[in-house]
Amino acid sequence: MDAHAWHTRFSQQAKWTASLRQYLFERVGLKEDDRILEIGCGTGAVLHVMIQETNSRRVFGLDLDYTYLSLAAHNAPPAHLIQANAHALPFPDGCFDIVFCHFLLLWVKNPLLTVKEMTRITRQGGWVLALAEPDYGGRIDYPEALAEIGHMQEEALRQQGAETRLGRRLAALFIAAELHEIVTGVLGGEWEVQHAAADWQQEWEVLEDDLRGWLTPDELSTLREIDRSAHEIGERILYVPTFYAMGRKD
Ligand SMILES: C[S@@+](CC[C@H](N)C(=O)[O-])C[C@H]1O[C@@H](n2cnc3c(N)ncnc32)[C@H](O)[C@@H]1O
Repeated sequence: MDAHAWHTRFSQQAKWTASLRQYLFERVGLKEDDRILEIGCGTGAVLHVMIQETNSRRVFGLDLDYTYLSLAAHNAPPAHLIQANAHALPFPDGCFDIVFCHFLLLWVKNPLLTVKEMTRITRQGGWVLALAEPDYGGRIDYPEALAEIGHMQEEALRQQGAETRLGRRLAALFIAAELHEIVTGVLGGEWEVQHAAADWQQEWEVLEDDLRGWLTPDELSTLREIDRSAHEIGERILYVPTFYAMGRKD
């Protein structure tokens, strides 16, 4: 998948977490003139909707990947964008009100160092948020014939460098980073059973990308057909528990 296809995927993921983001930003009391930074902002999918939803004016995004950042410059124009590594954030201590990430910690080499860096650059009394970190160890695939897809995709993601069970570690990471008033939870799931065709198509594009080399084209198309039929009769469940956490810097 190229960067544009990833942006479509990231935008889909941003929709899944829309109500959670709204709830958490309200809970931490986000104000329009707060300085807010997304670490690992990718193509700007979350920044874009955040700017629209919250009217925030002082929004920053940071990512390692220049190609993604150049798309973010187009997708989330007023945001200030920086190319840097989450392990060594190029900011002085305490200069943001809120620092957050979304589907990031599973991809970084050192999630604890990343959360500690996020904490360091947050002001006293400000908030660090991890909005979405999946845990593939708790994935539900139904019907049974499709369970193997889940195991293979987890292994494929591991080989791409992901810590696929990061979600369950979130609260401990926040404690180790010396955050306070920590709240953690799991994003619930809701499916529009009869209107999910576009999402289904996208899910398969990602799956085929992940499982290329694991299954032959014939095997993939057999599973795709089982999946499609299961969807048609409302039988298909694909649920990956996705954790969130918030913590205050004391
Ligand atoms: C799954 S994408 C999520 C993008 C965005 N947060 C979203 O939800 O749309 C993960 C992002 O983290 C970035 N990333 C991974 N490791 C990083 C690091 N060490 N420092 C900064 N960004 C990193 C990747 O380049 C990628 O853009």
